Amino acid sequence: MAIALITLAAGQGTRMNSDLPKVLHQVGRAPLVAHALAAGRALEPETVIVVAGHGADQVKKAVSKIDPEAQIVLQEEQLGTGHAVAQALPLLDGFDGRVIVLYGDTPFIRPETLERLAESDAAVTVLGFEAADPGRYGRLVALGNALERIVEFKDATDEERAIKLCNSGVIACDAILLTELVAGLSNDNAAGEYYLTDIVAAARARGLTAEVVTCEEAETLGINTRAELARAEALFQERMRAEAQDNGVTMVDPATVWFALDTYIGRDVVIGPNVVFGPGVTIESGAAIEAFCHLEGCHISRGATVGPFARLRPGAELAEDVHIGNFVEVKNSILAEGVKVGHLTYLGDADIGEHTNIGAGTVTCNYDGVMKHRTTIGANAFIGSDTMLVAPVTVGDGALTGSGSVITKDVPAEAIAIERAEQVTRPGLAKKLFAKLRAEKARRMKKD
Ligand code: UD1
Ligand code: CA
Repeated sequence: MAIALITLAAGQGTRMNSDLPKVLHQVGRAPLVAHALAAGRALEPETVIVVAGHGADQVKKAVSKIDPEAQIVLQEEQLGTGHAVAQALPLLDGFDGRVIVLYGDTPFIRPETLERLAESDAAVTVLGFEAADPGRYGRLVALGNALERIVEFKDATDEERAIKLCNSGVIACDAILLTELVAGLSNDNAAGEYYLTDIVAAARARGLTAEVVTCEEAETLGINTRAELARAEALFQERMRAEAQDNGVTMVDPATVWFALDTYIGRDVVIGPNVVFGPGVTIESGAAIEAFCHLEGCHISRGATVGPFARLRPGAELAEDVHIGNFVEVKNSILAEGVKVGHLTYLGDADIGEHTNIGAGTVTCNYDGVMKHRTTIGANAFIGSDTMLVAPVTVGDGALTGSGSVITKDVPAEAIAIERAEQVTRPGLAKKLFAKLRAEKARRMKKD
C-alpha cells in the first residue's frame, strides 16, 4: 500500500534551553529529525511531509539537505498534535494510501517496527509500549490489541492513570479517513489542544477498528533536555556498535568507537581503539583502521589500512590496498590502488596514481590564500620526503622528486626534479667551530 509520512517537528523544545530548534540537535552527528526520517524512509513512502514551526527556516534548510524530496509545511501556532497533522493534510489531497505520523524528536523507532505498524489493517493503528514509569504519557485504553481510545494524562482518571500501556505518538491511518477524523477534532480538553489521539475514539464511534502494535520502550524515547540528548547519544552509539559487530566488524574496544547515523562498515573490518566516524563514511570489507583516527566523508576500499592517528576529511577516496600512516591528513583527494602515504603528510585536492609512494612530510600546497588548486601525481611516482607541491602542479608517471624540494613546475614522466641548494662540505670545520664555542662559553662563565 502507498504510504505518506508526516513528521511533527514544530515544537520549541523549551527545556533544551537553546536557540536551535529541538529537532536539529544532533545524535550520531545527524539532527534528530534525520533519524526519524531515516526510519520512515525504510517504508519507501510516496510523500514525506515535515511540519515545522519554531525555527521553521532552520528546520527547512536542514530537512532539504537530509531529504531533498521532503515537503515542509508551517504550523504557525502550536495548537496540538491534531492541529499539526491538519496543516500537512492539504498536501495529501487525492492520496488514498496510508498515513504514518512520526515525531521529529523521537529518533529510535526501528524501521521494522514501522513496517509492522504499516501492515496492520485496522482503520487506525497506534504504536504503544509498556512503560516502566508511565509518567505523563497518553494511556491506551485497550482490550488485548483492540484499542478503544487514548486518554491524555491531564484528562485521565486515577484508574486510567494506572494503565501502563502508553502512546508512543506514532499513529497510522488511511489518508481519507484521517482527513475526516482530524476535521472533527475539538480542543475541549484539559490542555485546550487539538489532540491527534482523539481520532481513535472517533474512529470507534463510527464502528471502525483501532489496534495497538507494541514495541520496546527504548524505541519510543523522546528527547526534551540536554541530559536526555546525552543519554540518547549513548544509546545510539551502543546500538551502532552492536549492529557493526553483528555485521562482522571487529572493534578492539567498542566503547571508544563513535559512529554517525550513516556510517557503513563492511565485513571483517578491524577498528582499533578511539576511532571517530563523522558523517558520510563507507568502509569496504577487510580494511583496517588503527587507533586514534578521525574519518569523515570518505570512502575506504578493500584491503586499505589507515592510521594510527590519521585524519580523513570529506572527499578522501582510498582505492584498494592504499596505506595511510600516522599523522597524515587527506582531503578531497583520490588515491589509486596501492598508494602509500606513510607519515606526516597533507594531501588536499590531489589525484595520486597507482602504487605511488608519498614520502614523509610531503605537503600539497593547495591554497594560495584566495583559491584552491589541484595537484596531480601519476602512477609509480616517488615523492621524496619534505616535498612541497605548489598547486596547480603535475608530476608524471614514474617521476621522482628530491627530498626537501619545493616543486612549482610540472615534472614530466620518468624525470627527476630537485629544487634545493648544492650541499657544501668543509672537512674538519665542525671540530674547529665547537672548540671556539666552548672557549667562548668558558670565558662568559668566568666573568659571572
Ligand atoms: C503526545 C501524545 C501522547 C503521547 C506522547 C508521546 C497527543 C495529544 N499526545 O503528548 O499521547 O504519549 O506524545 O511522547 O498527541 N507538535 C507539533 N505541533 C503541535 C504540538 C506538538 O509539531 O502543535 C510536535 C512536537 O514538536 C513533538 C510532538 O509533536 O515532536 C509531540 O508533542 P508534545 O507536545 O511533546 O506531545 P505530548 O504532550 O508529549
Ligand atoms: Ca628546500
